[in-house]
Amino acid sequence: MNKRTVRDLAPAEIKGKRALVRVDFNVPLDGTRITDDTRIRAAIPTLQLLIKGGARIVLLSHLGRPKAKPDAKYSLAPVGLRLGELLGKPVAFCPETDTDAALAATKKLTDGDVLLLENTRFLPGEEKNDAALSKSFARLGDFYVNDAFGTAHRAHASTAGVAEFLHPAVAGLLMDAELEWLGAALEKPKRPFIAILGGSKISGKIDVIEAMLPKVDGILIGGAMACTFFSAMELETGESLVEPDRVEMAEDLIERAAFRLTLPHDATVAPSVAAASKAHAVKRDAIPESEAMLDIGPETAQSFARAILAAKTIVWNGPMGVFETPPFDMGTKAVANAMAEATAKGAITIVGGGDSAAAVEQMGLSAKMSHVSTGGGASLEFLEGKVLPGVAALDERSAK
Ligand code: 3PG
Repeated sequence: MNKRTVRDLAPAEIKGKRALVRVDFNVPLDGTRITDDTRIRAAIPTLQLLIKGGARIVLLSHLGRPKAKPDAKYSLAPVGLRLGELLGKPVAFCPETDTDAALAATKKLTDGDVLLLENTRFLPGEEKNDAALSKSFARLGDFYVNDAFGTAHRAHASTAGVAEFLHPAVAGLLMDAELEWLGAALEKPKRPFIAILGGSKISGKIDVIEAMLPKVDGILIGGAMACTFFSAMELETGESLVEPDRVEMAEDLIERAAFRLTLPHDATVAPSVAAASKAHAVKRDAIPESEAMLDIGPETAQSFARAILAAKTIVWNGPMGVFETPPFDMGTKAVANAMAEATAKGAITIVGGGDSAAAVEQMGLSAKMSHVSTGGGASLEFLEGKVLPGVAALDERSAK
């Protein structure tokens, strides 16, 4: 990567200095219970490096989508408690973010201390990337570390603006690892290189299909978005989710991609998700008028697994069906299991964040992938070839 990272900092740039670290602690909560702490665990290596180096750590993160004002439901307080458990040391929590009280709290820290400030999205200037707020954040540290890959596609005050006013501004270890894995897959993939794309909507994936088509040896399409392609092929899609305004686009993609785009040959259908007991497999040209495709079919699952096992680099983003409700998890499970097997055989396997990462985690297979991204939207935008503002804002490697 051409950006400086925490590893490039000299010991004197760390020891006794306040490290303002932007992390992505946007974790799923059930009340105040954290239901998946993956993103907190993912930040630990950077924090440990800084603690070991004697930094005084000040953490910024958002949580959820509060409406630019305090909302107790989105407080980071429970996250601070979990972080303390994972680090094995207390994490101080400040219920304010950029106030004089927060500034005073940063000044009281001693070497190796960790302080978590309240949700950045409680402040109106955060999502506007407001310059005054960015400056105000810059007062809270002596150098800036962005380890929030999951939020790197947002140009917000705590992810981008602050780096204009605070230097060094460097990437954390998680940010660096994410960019290295995704970057290497796109730039120097071992071939065959395939992408598996799923999810419900083609509209969210169109740019990634466009960007990846020239780079990959094949794209396998699953999830409800396959139905928009079926519609372009003039197949009956019954009650399946189809985006009528994208059908033409799908038709054009099928023409241009030719043999590099693989659509499901069969589908698991049912009258509805609730009627799971009525699920059955049909060929793709036999979807009943009154039923919906809720997963790829068993033949498709097998052929996708074969394609995965024949590939050397596999990037996966988006579930193959309604994986939260069995039996519509069959396709997603087949893909995840084949990816795990491919990893063991030496392939590079990368799971984009979001739902596919959640599915892999739920199946206990995360450790069996080469890399599971912590960023859903961010990894998609990266794969689309877009510049991530949170990365662009950091110091170039040549800068001092
Ligand atoms: C995510 O969960 O994708 C990131 O934390 C970004 O959250 P956002 O989509 O609310 O900006």
